[in-house]
Amino acid sequence: MFNFTYCTPTQVVFGRDVEEHTGALVKAQGCKKALLHYGGGSVIRSGLLDRIKASLAREGIAYAELGGVVPNPRLSLVYQGIALSRREGVDFILAVGGGSVIDSAKAIAYGLAEEADVWELYDRARTAKACLPVGVVLTIAAAGSEMSNSSVITKDEGGIKRGYNDDICRPRFAVMNPELTVTLPPWQTASGCVDILMHTMERYFTPNGTMELTDSLAEGLMRTVLKNAVILRDAPDSYEARAEIMWAGSLSHNGLTGCGNDGGDFACHGLEHEMGGMFDVTHGAGLAAVWGSWARYVYRDCLPRFVRFAVNVMGVDNSSSPEETALKGIEAMEDFYRSIAMPTCFSELGISPTREQLEDMAHKLHIASGGRKGAAKVLYEADFLNIYQMANH
Ligand code: NZQ
Ligand code: ZN
Repeated sequence: MFNFTYCTPTQVVFGRDVEEHTGALVKAQGCKKALLHYGGGSVIRSGLLDRIKASLAREGIAYAELGGVVPNPRLSLVYQGIALSRREGVDFILAVGGGSVIDSAKAIAYGLAEEADVWELYDRARTAKACLPVGVVLTIAAAGSEMSNSSVITKDEGGIKRGYNDDICRPRFAVMNPELTVTLPPWQTASGCVDILMHTMERYFTPNGTMELTDSLAEGLMRTVLKNAVILRDAPDSYEARAEIMWAGSLSHNGLTGCGNDGGDFACHGLEHEMGGMFDVTHGAGLAAVWGSWARYVYRDCLPRFVRFAVNVMGVDNSSSPEETALKGIEAMEDFYRSIAMPTCFSELGISPTREQLEDMAHKLHIASGGRKGAAKVLYEADFLNIYQMANH
């Protein structure tokens, strides 16, 4: 077991109708003016945005407004948000949406707090000294950004997708009503479930120090998501299943399922971020498409964990050799992905990169990761390319 810091300052307000409290939660932050930030229109169609505006009005909160965040949120809109917020005297960012809106909100909050170009954070040129406060009304269970220390932004020119992690961007509050996620298309619900699983799997697959309590929490979380993802496939209106998945999404990426391990693997996230930057794929689906290839590439170097995963999470019987058991666990996870209509290779994801594009992604990841990535097995540029090639069918 390694030493760890567990930082979760986010106030969670969870359950039916809780979005009605948004105005009061913003008011409690003592801000003068909020930026109401949202995506491409789902919150307008569902009527949520009007309800949030009414809640802000009831509390007398002034606000400016900026919609138009797209999945794989763009730096260009972040710059617009910073300029608008400076003109309007904004001192609080309210994100109404999913991971893309929240990440864009965090980037605007960083950009407002310091004069320097915010992209320098994502480009690893400097670290942040300050960040304006951010609040969240969550509409999709997936990225976990509502409690995470992370923000992932794509630079428009060159499709460079990069994350920046710092505890100072963790949202002040997260309003989570599972009912708000009922309007999601099945593809987004399923992609979200994959992302939630992956945030814990990234922390779980490590040969280094682990902690019994953390492992049990991680395995319980993964089993809960596996079960409820299938319930939502068949009964998308199930409030209970929506609630299980939504809470799992937050706990999977707020650090809880990594306490005491060595920081996790996160190679699949690195691999996916390059796919998202180049092909604009849905994040969770991109993870599903590359995971099996990654797992087959690394499992021998982290065999006890893959065996434990197979038995404790995927329900594989333990009568075969460790190697066979591990492979059965990988196959069972891929079967699960297929069962919720998620891809297990690039053609199923709808992309067919050329050799040159694969090399380009591998090289970009080499730069983004500082040359090496992973804990289950430490990977280098040649390994990134090998895994991309394995998935490219
Ligand atoms: O833009 P709108 O119209 O709102 O539509 C969105 C979007 O098209 C739609 N949607 C969201 N809530 C809905 C809804 N449609 C109907 N009903 C609702 N209630 O869903 C689509 C996807 O939204 P998005 O915010 O992109 O989803 P997600 O939460 O999966 O976020 C993905 C982004 O988060 C990043 C990913 O890389 C990706 O850019 N990540 C952020 C992390 C973090 N900050 O901690 C960690 C993750 O690993 C991830 O990298
Ligand atoms: Zn993710």
